[in-house]
Amino acid sequence: MDDGLTEIDPGGTDASPAGFPAARGGGRKVFVRTFGCQMNVYDSERMTEALASSGYAETSAIEEADLVILNTCHIREKAAEKVYSDLGRVRAVKQERASAGAETVVAVVGCVAQAEGAEIVRRAPVVDLVVGPQGYHRLPELIARTRAESRSLVDTEFPEEEKFAHLPERAAQRRTTAFLTVQEGCDKFCTFCVVPYTRGAEYSRAVEDIEREARSLVASGVRELTLLGQNVNGYHGLAADGRTYSLADLVCRLARIEGLERLRYTTSHPRDMSDDLIAAHAAEPKLMPYLHLPYQAGSDRILAAMNRKHTAREYVDLVRRIRAAKPDMALSTDIIVGFPGETEEEFSETLAVFEEIGFAAAYSFKYSPRPGTPAEKLDSQVPEAVKMERLARLQSMIERHQSAFAARCVGRTLPVLFERHGRHPGQLIGRSPYLQGVHAAAGAEYLGQVVPVEISSCGPNSLAGVIRPE
Ligand code: SAH
Ligand code: SF4
Ligand code: F3S
Repeated sequence: MDDGLTEIDPGGTDASPAGFPAARGGGRKVFVRTFGCQMNVYDSERMTEALASSGYAETSAIEEADLVILNTCHIREKAAEKVYSDLGRVRAVKQERASAGAETVVAVVGCVAQAEGAEIVRRAPVVDLVVGPQGYHRLPELIARTRAESRSLVDTEFPEEEKFAHLPERAAQRRTTAFLTVQEGCDKFCTFCVVPYTRGAEYSRAVEDIEREARSLVASGVRELTLLGQNVNGYHGLAADGRTYSLADLVCRLARIEGLERLRYTTSHPRDMSDDLIAAHAAEPKLMPYLHLPYQAGSDRILAAMNRKHTAREYVDLVRRIRAAKPDMALSTDIIVGFPGETEEEFSETLAVFEEIGFAAAYSFKYSPRPGTPAEKLDSQVPEAVKMERLARLQSMIERHQSAFAARCVGRTLPVLFERHGRHPGQLIGRSPYLQGVHAAAGAEYLGQVVPVEISSCGPNSLAGVIRPE
């Protein structure tokens, strides 16, 4: 079958100065599946926008995709293995399309691509392209090359040039909230973590580049920005006047953008939670009172073995200072159970810290040994059954705290930014300052607006309320 599309060059040879050819409305389709953290979500958006300028329209139906992109996560074994089970499905689709005469380019990008490189093609020959997180601006060129040369290509270099400078400007958005990566990579080398290897060295984007992107997002209707980085509070970006901005400086500068209602940032490391950032929470009303601050473990011996560079008491003291500056700050965290050598006693210290602080939300994980990390080589690995049992105990504590936090919101009137229509007609869904989903009966005219909502009840994952327009 001739679909009339095979003549279309996805670009690369006659590229514009930015590396991307102008839109040609070629009718090709791209299917993107994203695993992992918000930074991958952001990267997928940027890739999709970039490919749109090479004539690829996004599709949610894999069967009609000329290009399939899996944007992968390597953080835990389960996440990494998902890619291979997906690739089995992709292979069937590619074969089916081939028998109908249609070509399919399969690209694995993201952190598994970076970590495993050519090994992916060996394990799954269906893959045409393997591209690491710093090479996305080269995608159109690589797609053209793999098609022209009919062979698989692997690009996992950490190039000198910054990918953001070579990606096209942001496309118009049709939504209220957006992610914006301001910092990438990590130099902290926690002994359990692959991120320093998959994302490379810590790097902060320039202030004006971020501001330009933020302004264009706000101009197209975005009202809330979440600034992203693996260590976002370690941000130290250069401004045109030669000054280095901290995250607090950046937040205060972006807060001046008219039409931008809310700012958030994630993920922070306790070591980089500086006084000026804490002060910004007290001074800047657009900065939301919600902070994701992983503590990972409550035992000082385990924290040292993890190379977290802080003690449990230092973490608790930090939270005390944050709450002194911003009494209604809601905290969330990440915790790992069953790090090598963790005893029952040490695990109970993790529970004790959780109980003492009282988090609004938390993400908990069983330790997963990752190739190439120092902790993987420790011979005191905790048995799976013990990890499972500890995780279950921790999760019931998390649920108890989460529900208690939600219950304390009932009866309060909270400002809610409405983002989308709910499942029922006449219902809108938005978020509270504390990142909780809130639904209320409200007309479409409230979309994209911050509206006071009196919270009337709470469920396991969301709040319900009644709008009380001023
Ligand atoms: N940069 C962030 C975390 C990124 S990874 C930070 O420093 O906090 C997100 C979370 O995944 C981590 O906070 C950690 O709790 C978890 N994680 C990372 N590596 C892991 C591993 N090998 N096993 C289990 N959980 C892990
Ligand atoms: Fe991983 Fe630690 Fe860096 Fe976070 S700070 S990304 S956990 S190495
Ligand atoms: Fe996963 Fe990479 Fe994010 S390993 S958590 S997608 S930085």
